[in-house]
Amino acid sequence: MTEMTLRKLRYAMVGGGRDAFIGAVHRKAIALDGQAEFVAAALSSNPEKAKASGRDLFLPDDRNHGDWRGLLDDELKRPAHERIDFVSIVTPNHMHFPVAQAFVEAGFHVVCDKPLVHTREQADALVEAVARKGTVFGVTYNYTGYPMVRQAREMVRSGELGEIRKIVVEYNQGWLATRLEGEGNKQAAWRSDPAQSGAAGAIGDIGSHAENLVATVTGLEIESLCADLTSFVPGRPLDDDGSLLLRFKGGARGVLVASQINTGLENDLRLRISGAQGTLVWRQERPSELTHLPHDGPKRILTRGAPWLCESARRASRIPSGHPEGFIEAFANIYGGVIADIRAKLAGVAADPLAADYPRVEDGARGVRFIERTVTSAKSEVKWTAW
Ligand SMILES: NC(=O)c1ccc[n+]([C@@H]2O[C@H](COP(=O)([O-])OP(=O)(O)OC[C@H]3O[C@@H](n4cnc5c(N)ncnc54)[C@H](O)[C@@H]3O)[C@@H](O)[C@H]2O)c1
Repeated sequence: MTEMTLRKLRYAMVGGGRDAFIGAVHRKAIALDGQAEFVAAALSSNPEKAKASGRDLFLPDDRNHGDWRGLLDDELKRPAHERIDFVSIVTPNHMHFPVAQAFVEAGFHVVCDKPLVHTREQADALVEAVARKGTVFGVTYNYTGYPMVRQAREMVRSGELGEIRKIVVEYNQGWLATRLEGEGNKQAAWRSDPAQSGAAGAIGDIGSHAENLVATVTGLEIESLCADLTSFVPGRPLDDDGSLLLRFKGGARGVLVASQINTGLENDLRLRISGAQGTLVWRQERPSELTHLPHDGPKRILTRGAPWLCESARRASRIPSGHPEGFIEAFANIYGGVIADIRAKLAGVAADPLAADYPRVEDGARGVRFIERTVTSAKSEVKWTAW
């Protein structure tokens, strides 16, 4: 370890101002392990609100910017001992590409929320830029940070379930069951606007999490898909409900559901994976449990914090079993992976793969392709058989 790696990293944030949702979660998650400090920001699209939001968080005036270009220009002028190590991008989707591209081109490490960008061309450009600049780029598919998701990944990939045959993943919410975007709800407004959200609504917003969860746990690649998207709420231009059939390379079959009009449901993300020798079931609303149903034996419920879990699941847990851990800790695990990778780069050594465990720009790019192929499939009527 060099002097450079034995210090707190410094980060900036773009988006995440007053009344924003996920930016504050990112800041809390980063703070959890004390490995990086928040030193600069452009927190809102509105310059006055950006600055007021920065003052709430005690940012000094000279690092509290009204817009992200001002933030980037200022960072480039600062001496190395003050400059940020990475930026977290937590704006609505349409701003991910310009901000991420500019910071990567300037040589900064980046964490960006999902979905990565709007188009496949943008995703390819970002993957190319990250490779060329040699920067770290994490995408906050935060559900893959849960210890019991990491345990599921280990069990599937080590062959404990046998050959994977069937995968069912559902992410169901109810909060967009009415036209909230017409009632001044900011989060609903940009999510229902194609110019800001992108080509998809629910499929991009939460279907992308479902796709990433399956890919992370199983390592299987989608070979083809058949999608049905609809918008139940009148006047909403993007899907609020989607159902997909999936075919994976190697023969497994899957079903993916992403819907935001399921009245009464909150964040009901569920994963079920069946192999020739058993099934695993995980639910994000009970994240510390993983149910294992072997074909030839009694079912068992594995719980977070137990000593018999795999090392990556054990490392992802901070407190003894039975004390609830959750969303922010899972998010912190993604940041832990990114920070481990940045520290390895600063030290000029190869990162420990168990530590640098986080979704990368390539995962984000695959998510963009998933959204694009889903929207394309949904426009086709070919697979439907009239009753
Ligand atoms: N990983 C997750 O679980 C998760 C959960 C929610 C949202 N998200 C993603 O996070 C992002 C933000 O979602 P949200 O729900 O927090 O949205 P939000 O509307 O609550 O917050 C967005 C923030 O970005 C700011 N912003 C907009 N344009 C900006 C610009 N040009 N420069 C600086 N700031 C700008 C807004 O002023 C606001 O503060 C989206 O990409 C969303 O898909 C991820």
